[in-house]
Amino acid sequence: MADWTDKERATVASVWGKIDVNEIGPQALARVLIVYPWTQRYFGTFGDLSNAAAILGNAKVAAHGKVVLGALDKGVKNVDNVKATYTALSQLHCLKLNVDPDNFKLLADCLTIVLATKFGSAFTPEIQATWQKFLSVVVIALGSQYF
Ligand code: HEM
Repeated sequence: MADWTDKERATVASVWGKIDVNEIGPQALARVLIVYPWTQRYFGTFGDLSNAAAILGNAKVAAHGKVVLGALDKGVKNVDNVKATYTALSQLHCLKLNVDPDNFKLLADCLTIVLATKFGSAFTPEIQATWQKFLSVVVIALGSQYF
């Protein structure tokens, strides 16, 4: 699905190694729900999402953010086989959750912004490029079972 240089492999693993899923996951999902409010429609059981403060303080958003980001671990560990890694998750989002696959890119972009904010100048353009290449492959994989 994508070719990876040794340097890119090392960069993806290094970025992932610096991510605290419990901190970054909630921030990334909350950002999606605040910046793209139409995405809230999928989380009708999550309670109060009526404004940014409510979303940032919502325990269900935080918990689910951890689940979503935690799911990237498998992709990081299987960069040569990302599509197969996410086949079941793609089917779940398509057939059961009915999530529009455009939303995967929104989450990937919010995650990158959260990381840039967190890591500052250490998140160089070169590192960003490799990280976003990885997320693009994940986004394609999550969309692969839509038809
Ligand atoms: C990188 C992108 C994403 C990953 C890796 C991901 C991963 C996951 C995982 C691991 C689950 C739990 C599956 C299970 O219970 O077996 C899940 C559930 C779910 N995902 Fe995603 N997801 C992503 C993006 C999104 C986006 C962008 C949306 C909607 C805007 C979304 C909506 C949902 C919903 C509604 C659930 C069920 C939540 C619940 O009620 O418990 N996902 N996702």
